[in-house]
Amino acid sequence: MTASPRPVQIAPSVLPADFSRLGEECAALEEAGVDRIQWDVMDGQFVPNLTFGPDVIAACRSAVTIPFEAHLMVNTPEVLAERYVEAGCNLLLVHVESTVHLHRCLEQIRSTGAGAGVALNPSTPLHAVEHILDLVEMVLVMTVNPGFGGQAYIPTMEPKVAALRQMIVDRGLDVDIEVDGGIGPSTIAGAAAAGANVLVAGSALYRDPQGLAHAVTDLRDRAEAAQSAGTR
Ligand code: DX5
Repeated sequence: MTASPRPVQIAPSVLPADFSRLGEECAALEEAGVDRIQWDVMDGQFVPNLTFGPDVIAACRSAVTIPFEAHLMVNTPEVLAERYVEAGCNLLLVHVESTVHLHRCLEQIRSTGAGAGVALNPSTPLHAVEHILDLVEMVLVMTVNPGFGGQAYIPTMEPKVAALRQMIVDRGLDVDIEVDGGIGPSTIAGAAAAGANVLVAGSALYRDPQGLAHAVTDLRDRAEAAQSAGTR
């Protein structure tokens, strides 16, 4: 069973942004044409890094009108999930590896009115999401080991993306597939051709010598071309 490609969305990670000017950095990303903003929330336990609390995100909420999503790279995400919704996040991504009661955690998030998503570390098999796929609007397949930006893309995640896409199509579900980590001009086509339609990029956006807007347009064009050609 096949289905038409889902709209490409470019979701920047603000990890490489200037943390002393986060509101302005969010506004610059919106101006550059991104579809949403991803906040990489890290607790220093689930991953060896520490980043944004809900108050930091809340302080940037009024700087833009595009959606915020929180990628919760934290242990026991149920403890703080509602705080991130109150801070203005429209979607919360929970790692399947981070909570014993994933089904309950996703229902808790949905009860707030926010969208729920799940994230899979590179080593985590797809069957971890088999029984909760109906509760989420997006599945994030990590294409690096989480914790830091600027890492190398793991191409062996592409068959995992393709298998996930088939699982979603076979069940007739309305679920986006997001990839995150090492996404740039030389890797985005493979990820999009495999079935990812929401593409997180951090360093690739900020290192483009022609600026953010050029980087966003270039990545979008490459992903859309790969979707229509089904090529890598
Ligand atoms: C890893 C982070 C990074 C970041 C994007 O935990 O989630 O993947 O968002 O980093 P780049 O695009 O620089 O690889």
